[in-house]
Amino acid sequence: MTALTLSTAAAPGLRADAIVIGVAKGAGGPSVAPGAEAVDKAYDGRLAGVLETLGASGAEGEVTKLPAPAGFKAPVVVAVGLGAEPEKDAGFDAEALRRAAGAAARALAGAKKAAFALPLTEAADAGVVAEGVLLGAYSFDAYKESAKDAKGAKGKGNGKAPLAEAALLGGKPRDKAYKAAVERAAAVAEELNRARDLVNTPPNDLNPEAFAAVAQAAAKEHGIKVQVLDEKALVKGGYGGILGVGAGSASGPRLVKLSYTSPKAKKSLAFVGKGITYDSGGISLKPAGHNETMKCDMAGAAAVFAAVVAAARLGLEVNVTGWLALAENMPSGSATRPGDVLRMYSGKTVEVLNTDAEGRLVLADALWAASQEKPDAIIDVATLTGAMMLALGSRTYGIMANDDAFRSAVHEAAEESGEPAWPMPLPEHLRKGMDSPTADIANMGERMGGGLVAGLFLREFVGEGITWAHLDIAGPAFNEGGPFGYTPKGGTGTAVRTLVRVAERVALGDLG
Ligand code: BES
Ligand code: MN
Ligand code: ZN
Repeated sequence: MTALTLSTAAAPGLRADAIVIGVAKGAGGPSVAPGAEAVDKAYDGRLAGVLETLGASGAEGEVTKLPAPAGFKAPVVVAVGLGAEPEKDAGFDAEALRRAAGAAARALAGAKKAAFALPLTEAADAGVVAEGVLLGAYSFDAYKESAKDAKGAKGKGNGKAPLAEAALLGGKPRDKAYKAAVERAAAVAEELNRARDLVNTPPNDLNPEAFAAVAQAAAKEHGIKVQVLDEKALVKGGYGGILGVGAGSASGPRLVKLSYTSPKAKKSLAFVGKGITYDSGGISLKPAGHNETMKCDMAGAAAVFAAVVAAARLGLEVNVTGWLALAENMPSGSATRPGDVLRMYSGKTVEVLNTDAEGRLVLADALWAASQEKPDAIIDVATLTGAMMLALGSRTYGIMANDDAFRSAVHEAAEESGEPAWPMPLPEHLRKGMDSPTADIANMGERMGGGLVAGLFLREFVGEGITWAHLDIAGPAFNEGGPFGYTPKGGTGTAVRTLVRVAERVALGDLG
């Protein structure tokens, strides 16, 4: 990952490949953002005009490269758009800074060192810029042999290595709050990028067993307790949902439990992640055009995994248990059929009407397992329904809950972290659509409101009296379009930052 430092150096004398500055969209054209005064001065105060001539407007995500002024050690200035100028006396919006830092870091792939002279008015701004840089500089090239040189290093062809080093100018390296903000950003971004790697790893290399091994290794490294239930243990325990989904695959399912405990914890949280390492649909096979990106169907489990490790690295004063429900959904002679009835871990029976509605089946068992420990709250994260994508698009995830205040609190945590999310209802009338003539419930209901139907199904497997929220991240988990801001193509790491923020707030006692 990109190495990050706080620096008090002045821009002109700095040895770097580029100096990054901010440009805002002002009423009369682009304006140079605070933090870049020395750069502007070196252009005789004419930088805004130069940028305008070059076609820059200050719009979000816009990147303009220009030669550095005479006397500068760095050869290039990279001007990145911050969007609309803030109101008088207000600072730039955190997410605008994060995205601009990310866009600049992305544009600097292949460079060794860049200095970021973006507006930092307080420690939190340094954290936000650090996060943007570290998330924007991400790339996944593990499988691109053509982009590697003879020694296996990146840099050949178009396989540009991510920006190696970033210095945040105006960063107060001796200030405790600044240092803490950057350290937090580094821990969260590093784990989030690992979650992206897991999502991007092809499904022939990341089956449930391999994912469990990755979790085991990380747990060991960070002092997290880990328990892996393999197929035999799942049979013994009666985990009919996870087993039913994994039944068709040559790679058996797993349930991974990660327990991070703090001696100072007053509250406990359980995070539950959908970890379908590949979703073919099973016997209800997905048609071509709907399965090419289904390696992303374990993004919920990857987010939960990353959040638990981040909580441990940050030493948060809250107990966090992560449950990864891992299975591969494949058709075969041993696969679950539409019409089969599964006896779930909770004891309820489920008629499987569509084997492609598999996420709710593995989550049901994991939610019930999590409930047995009576945590103060449970949050599950899942690429659960195409219906949620139809409702909210590909950049916003849906939040459902059995408690209005908790749903709002999770939404607030999402907003604070820069993750677009929106509250969704659980309308009671949709429950009867899942009535089954044979079993306690069917795994499918009305087509209309399919995302909410899935949420209602999950609610049945949350222990009595336990506060619960469900995040359907089917839209934003995997970016099929081009990169934007600090979001790359492919796995995005969605929900990691929301989960970490919820854990932080619970630890501080200002959530529920
Ligand atoms: N993993 C899919 C949902 C999904 C779709 C995630 C697109 C990301 C992108 C899930 O298992 C699924 O297949 N859901 C079905 C449910 C239906 C059969 C009730 C769906 O949404 O079509
Ligand atoms: Mn499916
Ligand atoms: Zn799925």
